[in-house]
Amino acid sequence: MKFVKELKRTNYAGELNSQLIGQKVVLMGWVSSRRDHGNLVFIDLRDREGLVQVVLDPNKTDNASAKDFRGEYVVAIEGIVRARPDGMKNTKLKSGEVEVESIRCEILNTASTVPFQIDDENVNETLRLKYRYLDLRSPRLQNNLIMRHQVARLVREFLSNNGFIEVETPILFKSTPEGARDYLVPSRVNPGNFYALPQSPQILKQLLMVSGYDRYFQIARCFRDEDLRADRQPEFSQIDMEMSFIDTEDIMNLNERMLRHIWKEIKGLDVPPIQRMTYFEAMDRYGSDKPDTRFAMEIQDLSKILAQSGFKVFDDALARGGIVRGLNVQGGSGFSRGQFDKLTDLAKKNGAKGLVWMKQEADGTINSPIAKFFTPEKLKQIFSHLGCTAKDCALIVADDYDPACSALSALRLHLGRELNLIDHSKYNFLWVIDFPLLEYSPDEKRWVSRHHPFTSPTDEFFEDMINNNEKAYPKMLAKAYDLVCNGYEMGGGSIRIYRNEIQQAIFRLLGMTEEETKMKFGFFLDALKYGTPPHGGIAWGMDRLVMLLAQTDAIREVIAFPKTAKATCLMSDAPSAVSRDQLVEVGVRLSAQAEKAIEEGNKQ
Ligand code: AMO
Ligand code: AMP
Repeated sequence: MKFVKELKRTNYAGELNSQLIGQKVVLMGWVSSRRDHGNLVFIDLRDREGLVQVVLDPNKTDNASAKDFRGEYVVAIEGIVRARPDGMKNTKLKSGEVEVESIRCEILNTASTVPFQIDDENVNETLRLKYRYLDLRSPRLQNNLIMRHQVARLVREFLSNNGFIEVETPILFKSTPEGARDYLVPSRVNPGNFYALPQSPQILKQLLMVSGYDRYFQIARCFRDEDLRADRQPEFSQIDMEMSFIDTEDIMNLNERMLRHIWKEIKGLDVPPIQRMTYFEAMDRYGSDKPDTRFAMEIQDLSKILAQSGFKVFDDALARGGIVRGLNVQGGSGFSRGQFDKLTDLAKKNGAKGLVWMKQEADGTINSPIAKFFTPEKLKQIFSHLGCTAKDCALIVADDYDPACSALSALRLHLGRELNLIDHSKYNFLWVIDFPLLEYSPDEKRWVSRHHPFTSPTDEFFEDMINNNEKAYPKMLAKAYDLVCNGYEMGGGSIRIYRNEIQQAIFRLLGMTEEETKMKFGFFLDALKYGTPPHGGIAWGMDRLVMLLAQTDAIREVIAFPKTAKATCLMSDAPSAVSRDQLVEVGVRLSAQAEKAIEEGNKQ
């Protein structure tokens, strides 16, 4: 083997250009495609940086092995860079002005026939995930992962320059609640005991503030056993940070500067100062606490003009303290009955009990399933109150606040996409602030934290908190902030509780007994007693950040080895059954149900 041992690579294939014409280069990579013209063999040689065309004359002894080249063979080429003849230049390729004339070549390794062409965009995802290492050869994924690396580098650099210290926190730990289920790991040496993988390093980073580290960051792996969606994975990475002796503004300003730095370096864009919106304004205008503000179609209130309208659905909703709100779908006058039925299904799937639609007929009358409940004038009034004209249609939901908002938000987003209202070249950032601290869970019949139980209420509620004043719970606001971009929650954080008695009061309020609190968080409550500075922080979803930068809707596209929506790895077949011995060793016995599932081999 002459290459590798004696001849070292001089350049990446993808970086060759006309400035290198006449130079001798040594390249190593994969045969992406091959055209055999008998007296000449053309290949596209691929490596991490891209492709270059190589011309080989197999009649020359040193090039003889070119006859045996096949797709995805690993080859080495020594050759001269030359300009492509006029008319043969490929403007789509970075190296498209040049080609390499091979002096000698060598096959470093052969390859079996690959299950799909690396650059074929139409291969189904199951197959691509099974052979993830092959899909990772594609320029698409390589670009995404290189971008991810750049983000990590920029973040490390920025935070280090701003006085942050990177600290690693354990993966084998105790439950750190962020609202999802824990992944558990049995302990062999302590039978019957389990570690929980961290849902985030929340408690640990707060302890580092108690320890006086002042500014901490970590690109932290987090684990959450929850229902997966296009923007969620069971394990994911956070850009996690915490600072002492600061207030909300300090954190928001620093993070805004970091955001600007990343967008400037990676996209070459100047991000303007980020707009702020309270939680309730976001809900009122967009029905969501992570609104996509790239298009308007804002929600409008109809309760004033519909008070005691005589239509039971509306009257009941308002009497219960609910809302009647609607959307003006511009250009929606042509929607068919079938389309309205589909929109109704979507509203129902998102919690609403129904959907009212309205459109104007050629004779000027309003067509709507509720037409019989109103006078023609009243219908017109509702229609024009939403700003609708003959070209538009109206969609109205009457319900309690939360389900009505969630249905209207789902309709808005669906129609925004469907009607092409979204400018995909835009990045619309938004800070959402003034979140409610708590929400009532009807299922659990108790109050739960909206963010996590370590978030501080605003100062005026400290006394209510310590005195367990239940009346104040629905009104309590949190010192919390979310960073939103194009409808995604990119990050979220808060100023923390740093007084032991308030932290204890929150645990009480959340329905935890003293014993439970001690078992789960005793060490943390103890720590708060030993000189805890005021502190706060934030975590960005690193994967979501890269998704936005790479302009993809699928989180799998920015993670090297992602899991499916069923939390499985199609490549390695994880999770998988383990031997009886292993189970005995870690003190775990399977339930009859699990045994049966294994027997039937019905892993999802
Ligand atoms: P939070 O739970 O909001 O806050 O998480 C912070 C950010 O992490 C991202 N994220 C996810 N990304 C991919 N897959 C998931 N399953 C997933 N879950 C969350 C989101 C989210 O905004 N400890 C707090 C932060 C703090 O208070 O400092 C926390 O974890 O982009
Ligand atoms: P009904 O009187 O139940 O036949 O409802 C009349 C119309 O109101 C139908 O088009 C329903 O889909 C719609 N509707 C029912 N409940 C709601 C609701 N909560 N919000 C909006 N529309 C509703």
